[in-house]
Amino acid sequence: MTVLPILQWPDARLSTRCAEVEGVDEAVRILAADMLETMYAAPGRGLAAPQVGAMLRLFVMDTGWKAGARQPRVCVNPDLLWMSDDRATGPEGCLSLPGLTSEISRARAVRLRWIGLDGAEREEELHGFDAICAQHEFDHLDGIVTLHRLSPEARARAEAEIRA
Ligand code: NI
Repeated sequence: MTVLPILQWPDARLSTRCAEVEGVDEAVRILAADMLETMYAAPGRGLAAPQVGAMLRLFVMDTGWKAGARQPRVCVNPDLLWMSDDRATGPEGCLSLPGLTSEISRARAVRLRWIGLDGAEREEELHGFDAICAQHEFDHLDGIVTLHRLSPEARARAEAEIRA
């Protein structure tokens, strides 16, 4: 497995919508393994394929590994089937925006459907940090980073902070 370079904002690929994965083949399994290696090395709790320059609808996440055993999740062609109306605002960082933490409003719970590396479809209701992480990584697949979720004023402040 290989630790891949993580693209940094404002790389244009981070603002680009990704294509569906056509099928879970060996290339996709290698990409997912490399992405997990890259995420753990960073260290981070989620990583989306476009962050390593692979313009595919695929992300990996493991929200609990810093406090316990590794439980990697690989989500191919994920879909957010439902998002709770109940929302919460909390601090989020991103491996493509190092040093920046932004207060982002997210649904507290989501229902996520995805295809696993075995090619089988899965569906799960996620809560708490899992729900936030899934929404953050899902955003990356649509070319959305935390900056895009801020008010114009907050975004201007954040961009000044990145440039500093
Ligand atoms: Ni991110």
